[in-house]
Amino acid sequence: MDLSSLSLAKNEIKEELKTADSLAAIENLRVKFLGKNGVLKRLTAELASLSVEDKKQVGLVINEIKQEVETGLALATEQLSTQHKADSLEDFVKTLPGKKPEIGHLHVTTQAIREIVEVFKPLGFTRVRHPEIDWEYYAFEALNIPATHPARDEWETFFIDAPVDPKMSRQVITPHTSNGQIREMLKGDLPIRMLNISRCGRRQSDISHNPTFFQFEGLVVDKGINISHLKGVLNYFAKNFYGPDRQIRLRPYDFRFTEPSFEIDISCGICGGVGCKLCKGGWLELGGAGMVHPNVLIAGGVDPTQYSGFAFGWGVERVYMMKSGTRIDDIRHLLGNDLKFLEQF
Ligand code: PHE
Repeated sequence: MDLSSLSLAKNEIKEELKTADSLAAIENLRVKFLGKNGVLKRLTAELASLSVEDKKQVGLVINEIKQEVETGLALATEQLSTQHKADSLEDFVKTLPGKKPEIGHLHVTTQAIREIVEVFKPLGFTRVRHPEIDWEYYAFEALNIPATHPARDEWETFFIDAPVDPKMSRQVITPHTSNGQIREMLKGDLPIRMLNISRCGRRQSDISHNPTFFQFEGLVVDKGINISHLKGVLNYFAKNFYGPDRQIRLRPYDFRFTEPSFEIDISCGICGGVGCKLCKGGWLELGGAGMVHPNVLIAGGVDPTQYSGFAFGWGVERVYMMKSGTRIDDIRHLLGNDLKFLEQF
C-alpha cells in the first residue's frame, strides 16, 4: 500500500458515492466502505506493517477517505429525501377537478307531483293536504257511497284495526283523495280551487297497480260552475302536461259522488288519435271526473241551490307513466328501490 494507490482509491470511492441513487444503494456502500469487513477496516489493519513515518502519512489519508465516505453518504441520503418530497408534490395536480361525493335526487313520483302542481298553479289551484288515514265517513259515507257498496268491502280497502267510532265508523287508508272534497268544503271557505295530493291505498298489486300510490284531486266549488269549466281545466292540463297537440274527451261513467260522471281520455301521443298498438282505439284513459253531487255539497255544508262544482281524481304515477318517453312498463318499479331504475329520472 503506497500513497499514490491510496489517492487513486480515494477518487474511485468518491465516484462510486455519486452513484448512490436509492436508500438501498446508500446502505450497500456504507457496508462496503465502513462495515466490519469494509475497505476502511482493511486499510487500517494494513497500517501495522508500515514504518512509523509512513503510518502517519497513510493514516492521515485513510482518515480523509473515511470522512469523505461519511459526508458523501450523508449528502446522498439528504438529496434522496428532497427528491422524494418534490416527486410527491408533482403528483398533486392543483388543476385536476376533485372527486365529488355522489348526491341523490328527488324520487320520480315527487318530481311528477311537483310538475302537476306547477301546471295547475296558473289556474289558481292551491295544493292542500288532507288525512291519509281517515274515517269511513269522509272516505265513503259523505261521498254518497253507501255501506253496501263493493268499494267498502274488506278485499278492496285497507281498514285500520282500531276502535270504531259510532258516527264516523271505521278508519281506512284512504282509497282515493276524494275524502279531501268533504274536508275542504267543511272549512267553510268559498269559493274553492283545491288540489289535494296524497298517498292512497287499495288492495291491488299488478303491472298497473301498487297497493300504495298517489292521487291528485281537483275540486272547484263556486257559483255558476258547469261542465264546460271542467272540460276547459282538464284540456288545459292535458296540453300543458303532455303537449299542445293532445286532446281530451269525456266518456259517460258512474261515480256515486258526481253527477254527471265521466271518464276522461286523452288522445294517444303515438298515433295522434287514429288508433295503434298501444291505445287500440286512439285514446288512453286518464281517470275519473264529474260535477259534484248535490248530496256531497250538502255533506260539505255547501248550499247546492247557490253553488255547484266539479271534481277530478287521478293517479299521479299513472298520469306520469303516460307521458311519452318515460317508458315505465310496470308501476311497481317505482317503489322497488332499484337505483338502476330510479337514477334514470
Ligand atoms: N275518486 C275516484 C277514483 O278514485 C276518482 C274521481 C274523483 C271521480 C273525483 C270523480 C271525481 O276513482
